[in-house]
Amino acid sequence: MGRMGVWLLVGMVGMLIPVHGQDQIPGFISIDCGAPNDYYDIELGIYYKKDEGFVDSGENRQISTLFINENKWQQSKNLRFFPNGTRNCYTLRPEQGKGNTYLIRTLFYYGNYDNKNQQPIFDLHIGTDYWTTVNTSNWTSYEIIHVPTTDNIQVCLINTGNGVPYISALELRLLDSSIYLLNSASLSNHWRYDIGSSVMYRYPQDIYDRLWSAKIYNSTIPINITWTPSLSDNNDAYRVPAEVLGTAQRATDANSSIHLSWPSNSTNKWCIYFHFAEIESLPSGQKREFTISVNGKLAETVTLEYLKPLTVASPLVSGSKINLSIKATPQSGRYPPILNAVEFFTIVELRNILTAMDDITAINDIKKRYSIYRDSWQGDLCAPRDFIWDGLECSYDNPPRIISLNLSSSQLMGDLAASLSDLLALVSLDLSGNQFTGLIPESLAKLPNLKFLNLSENNFTGSIPESLQKKIDDKQLQLRVEGNPHLCLEDSCKPKKKRNSYIIPVIAAASGSVAILLVALAIIWRCKCKNKKGHREGTIKLKNRPFSYTEVLKITDNFKTVIGEGGFGKVYLGTLANGTKSAVKMLSRTSRQGYREFKTEAQLLMIVHHRNLVSLVGYCDDAENMALIYEFMENGDLRHHLSDQSSTYVLTWKDRLRIAVDAAQGLDYLHNGCKPPIIHRDLKTSNILLNESMQAKIADFGLSKAFAAENDSHISTRPAGTPGYLDPEFQSSGNLNRKSDVYSFGVILFELITGYPAVIRSGSGNIHILRWVTPIIERGDIQSVVDPRLDGKFNVNSAWKLVETAVSCVPTTAVRRPDISRVLAELKECWDIEMALERSQRMGSSKIRSTEAFEMMSVELDDYESVPIAR
Ligand SMILES: *[C@@H]1O[C@H](CO)[C@@H](O)[C@H](O)[C@H]1NC(C)=O
Ligand SMILES: *[C@@H]1O[C@H](CO)[C@@H](O)[C@H](O)[C@H]1NC(C)=O
Ligand SMILES: *[C@@H]1O[C@H](CO)[C@@H](O)[C@H](O)[C@H]1NC(C)=O
Ligand SMILES: *[C@@H]1O[C@H](CO)[C@@H](O)[C@H](O)[C@H]1NC(C)=O
Ligand SMILES: *[C@@H]1O[C@H](CO)[C@@H](O)[C@H](O)[C@H]1NC(C)=O
Ligand SMILES: *[C@@H]1O[C@H](CO)[C@@H](O)[C@H](O)[C@H]1NC(C)=O
Ligand SMILES: *[C@@H]1O[C@H](CO)[C@@H](O)[C@H](O)[C@H]1NC(C)=O
Ligand SMILES: *[C@@H]1O[C@H](CO)[C@@H](O)[C@H](O)[C@H]1NC(C)=O
Ligand SMILES: *[C@@H]1O[C@H](CO)[C@@H](O)[C@H](O)[C@H]1NC(C)=O
Ligand SMILES: *[C@@H]1O[C@H](CO)[C@@H](O)[C@H](O)[C@H]1NC(C)=O
Repeated sequence: MGRMGVWLLVGMVGMLIPVHGQDQIPGFISIDCGAPNDYYDIELGIYYKKDEGFVDSGENRQISTLFINENKWQQSKNLRFFPNGTRNCYTLRPEQGKGNTYLIRTLFYYGNYDNKNQQPIFDLHIGTDYWTTVNTSNWTSYEIIHVPTTDNIQVCLINTGNGVPYISALELRLLDSSIYLLNSASLSNHWRYDIGSSVMYRYPQDIYDRLWSAKIYNSTIPINITWTPSLSDNNDAYRVPAEVLGTAQRATDANSSIHLSWPSNSTNKWCIYFHFAEIESLPSGQKREFTISVNGKLAETVTLEYLKPLTVASPLVSGSKINLSIKATPQSGRYPPILNAVEFFTIVELRNILTAMDDITAINDIKKRYSIYRDSWQGDLCAPRDFIWDGLECSYDNPPRIISLNLSSSQLMGDLAASLSDLLALVSLDLSGNQFTGLIPESLAKLPNLKFLNLSENNFTGSIPESLQKKIDDKQLQLRVEGNPHLCLEDSCKPKKKRNSYIIPVIAAASGSVAILLVALAIIWRCKCKNKKGHREGTIKLKNRPFSYTEVLKITDNFKTVIGEGGFGKVYLGTLANGTKSAVKMLSRTSRQGYREFKTEAQLLMIVHHRNLVSLVGYCDDAENMALIYEFMENGDLRHHLSDQSSTYVLTWKDRLRIAVDAAQGLDYLHNGCKPPIIHRDLKTSNILLNESMQAKIADFGLSKAFAAENDSHISTRPAGTPGYLDPEFQSSGNLNRKSDVYSFGVILFELITGYPAVIRSGSGNIHILRWVTPIIERGDIQSVVDPRLDGKFNVNSAWKLVETAVSCVPTTAVRRPDISRVLAELKECWDIEMALERSQRMGSSKIRSTEAFEMMSVELDDYESVPIAR
């Protein structure tokens, strides 16, 4: 009991993972306990965080290598275990705070991590209350639906003497607060079945990420419909996925019932949620109607409407055996009852009241301020009684309060925290035998019930505050202060006023920001780029020069022809005095944010010059207007070429290879030819432009950054860029380095290969290109990977090579991605396979083997720069 199904053997249907701007999904907290870093689980489309910051204790461990591939869930591969203390807690702080309904899920996979081959058995608490007992060796989840009364939700693992508690993952999902209602109790889920189905669903089909296990009962007949969008009714807050409601089982005939039963611990109170929808189109006037009985008692009569979701909750039921039956009424005619999905919960009573919030806040502040670490200092302070924090005594009123705090001989130092005076119910405070310094705070006198205060054996200074002295004189307070050599106990001592000391920090802060500015300027100043052959290409073909606004007007013929629209304004066709065409990007006056990025772009483009980077012809920066004038790229952007179905010209395989090599060269120059390296930050197919001879050039440097440090030491920065191309590691850590560009470049390669955009829009949701392509690659089905518009006109060897290169660019962890120079070398090899093949075909020996192709490639390598465009 208490276990929600074992999914070891259950495959998951994984196709439609939406791309969510790559943030944490709103209302989700996903923690992979014991994981070394945050990551994007591409399988699930969910970001997982490592557990640092959610828990203070325990150690991380990887499971035994014998089991590491036992199941495919990344979250099962590491865990955190808790050798010390009887109660260890995770604290979740959902943005939406208390009073909302949350689904909280813990996941466990023992995987013999400790080499003892003995699975531990331990308890879980939600806040201060018993939730369930964990006893499993398989990948198993335990779920609870819970409405917290505080903004912090604590999930605690309790050592009951049957082994060291551990946990693999912890997830929180915000639910609509109108569903799964129960007064002051929580619902522990035991099973959740998608009846008549053979695949498991969770997010993104289920927006609440409930896990729907596939279930087929064998005495009834499965029915299903193909998925229809009208089945997911957005007004129905349960939001059971259409895929789940779309399958059901029905009784064999109208006279039979669907019957379910299971044994139960009779202390359990069950609540069963049935989910129905009519999925057979019945003749008009006919309706399926049936009754639900629980342990022989009629609970509900249900009439279904076609494709309309309906959820029915049973009354609470208990006993040593629970049975349910669903039986057609006479009104149902010849239509037997059906069941689409069902959830089985038991009630978790919330009995223990949490300690008063003021006390919790004050103690947490003290804990943090003095870095107090004690095994028991986790979870609620006072409740349940057996788990009260070491050094505390509480009154168990409603709510419980701290009446005694004993921090004697704990090696604490510094001034006394003001928050001590917030523990208003305190009767006894023992701080003796520490190294506290500073004045004795007057505010301690405000504690109304304080009877005993021990400050002895510290190093307090000043004198005893008057108000405390008065309490002592009135015999309300017993104070001990012996062993404080610098404390003045004579009347003549009055505490001195503190001198103002804020001037120095202000000056320090101000000069700090000046220093930052200087560093920033220095970076731009020092930025120099060389081409590979060592001479500066910067002694330029086209001179960057300032243009006046009047000139801009003239060049663009009064902004006559719009050729594009960027994030910050329109791009116009221009014609320079000598007749050369140009592209003129104007900064729209409404775009304030754009100004900085405009500047960045102008500054960088004045420094970087490479044949695979779009070059700047000039710029205009007068008071009102900003314009950047670029070389004109006749053939527009790459995205357009890949997606324009109407275009008669489909980029050939060779074109694509050529573009890949060009773009990689441009990027290699930014990363490795520039000191410090320049990170583009917004690489995408719409930023790769093609000139009249289909030569590719990288454009749009608005988000780029030059890096002070030369090797891959990273800087932290706000996420920027375009969904679908963003490095998942950068997303989660904010650490930006060259490998972020490599990831985006990998996505671009996949677009070149498949023709699909980074985020594939489909009727039923958005799919990231990696999500789409990975299973096909795994199947080895290269024909399905490559853009169908090529009509099979590509070489399988070079296609595989390009796919492998693309795959190498996109691991979730940045360190596993190669440097762009490595990618470039691979792409050149790819190009050579293609060229060798082309040559051999021209020579009539079309049956060239791939090994031969590889042998030929070095011949062509040096030649590459002069390869003519095949158009
Ligand atoms: C557990 O306690 C031992 C001894 O007190 C200590 O050495 C160890 O670091 C603790 N481990 C954790 C995970 O707190
Ligand atoms: C734990 O599970 C095992 C196997 O399912 C069972 O035999 C054992 O009785 C369980 N122990 C407890 C304490 O529930
Ligand atoms: C774990 O899974 C294996 C095989 O999938 C099964 O044989 C075993 O009984 C399961 N153990 C538990 C405790 O459910
Ligand atoms: C729907 O039912 C048919 C046969 O009745 C079966 O072959 C098919 O796999 C079912 N589809 C799903 C999604 O269960
Ligand atoms: C269900 O199937 C299993 C094995 O296929 C069989 O042992 C069991 O008796 C069946 N139950 C019913 C109610 O038909
Ligand atoms: C259901 O029961 C009624 C009366 O007992 C009988 O007339 C009818 O034929 C039965 N229907 C089926 C489908 O067994
Ligand atoms: C039933 O549950 C109660 C409380 O959780 C527990 O103390 C008791 O041992 C259980 N009984 C059985 C037979 O498992
Ligand atoms: C279901 O439970 C009720 C009450 O415990 C009992 O009277 C009835 O016989 C049970 N039905 C079946 C089919 O087990
Ligand atoms: C505080 O704890 C110390 C040692 O654990 C003990 O000697 C002392 O009496 C305690 N103080 C109070 C007020 O209980
Ligand atoms: C106690 O405080 C005084 C004055 O602040 C300082 O000079 C002295 O070193 C301190 N003694 C100890 C043991 O910390």
